[in-house]
Amino acid sequence: MHSTPVLAPDTTIAIVGAGRLGGVLARALRAAGFGVLGPLRRDDRMPDADLALLCVPDSAIAAVAFAARPHARLVAHVSGATPLADVDFSIHPLQTFTGTETPEVFRGIGVAVDARTPEALAVAEQLATALGATPFRVDDAHRAAYHAAASFASNFVLTVLDAAERLAAPSGLDRAHLAPLVQQTVDNWVASGAASALTGPIARGDEATVARQRAASADVADLFDALATATRAVADRKPRS
Ligand SMILES: NC(=O)c1ccc[n+]([C@@H]2O[C@H](COP(=O)([O-])OP(=O)(O)OC[C@H]3O[C@@H](n4cnc5c(N)ncnc54)[C@H](OP(=O)(O)O)[C@@H]3O)[C@@H](O)[C@H]2O)c1
Repeated sequence: MHSTPVLAPDTTIAIVGAGRLGGVLARALRAAGFGVLGPLRRDDRMPDADLALLCVPDSAIAAVAFAARPHARLVAHVSGATPLADVDFSIHPLQTFTGTETPEVFRGIGVAVDARTPEALAVAEQLATALGATPFRVDDAHRAAYHAAASFASNFVLTVLDAAERLAAPSGLDRAHLAPLVQQTVDNWVASGAASALTGPIARGDEATVARQRAASADVADLFDALATATRAVADRKPRS
């Protein structure tokens, strides 16, 4: 750990990119007491700052980092998937942001950090801590798998829930009916992992019921088949009682 504080109350931070994360991060760092410039839009002039945090699409990071370099002591990105090649450090909040969140959204979450130098790593860790989050290290070698895990935990969950919503609609059910089932399932997974938490026909070995479900899921047949196969593998890991 680094005992010398690298961030100071008068540290200035330019937030480049005014999209979903840029706006929330600017509000949160301002609330944490930093001098925040931005979030800057595409045609804004790049101001001088101690740090430049690039909240732009991954494909734009190299070009925007090059433009920011003369204006900032340290340049960082907030991407989970992009290596450190063009920046001094990265700070990736393991959370989903739609752009409307308050600064409290960072409290208690994990933030993946990595850096080229000990000083830059200390800055990344201190930024995460200042947001109320907990930093953890993910290096370039583990980045793609880490980011795939984040997509499974968030993006793909929504894809599955969307299929559930569509299949339930003809019965007159909506998201509010499904929500308690989803929340209890997530609570059970948090408490004991997928194999222990798994219930339902696949866990019971009731393939006749699975076949009836499959016949009723024509609109999402490919998704059903892929998930049923993967779920049988989870069931195989289920502790025998
Ligand atoms: N949203 C999340 O849940 C989340 C979570 C963790 C990390 N992140 C990371 O945050 C970064 C941004 O993601 P996002 O979801 O916030 O994307 P986003 O909503 O699409 O926002 C990206 C913003 O960058 C702007 N931009 C593009 N090129 C630019 C340039 N050359 N100069 C200045 N601004 C530029 C875009 O402006 P235009 O609209 O004009 O193109 C847009 O406002 C990504 O690295 C992503 O991995 C996002």
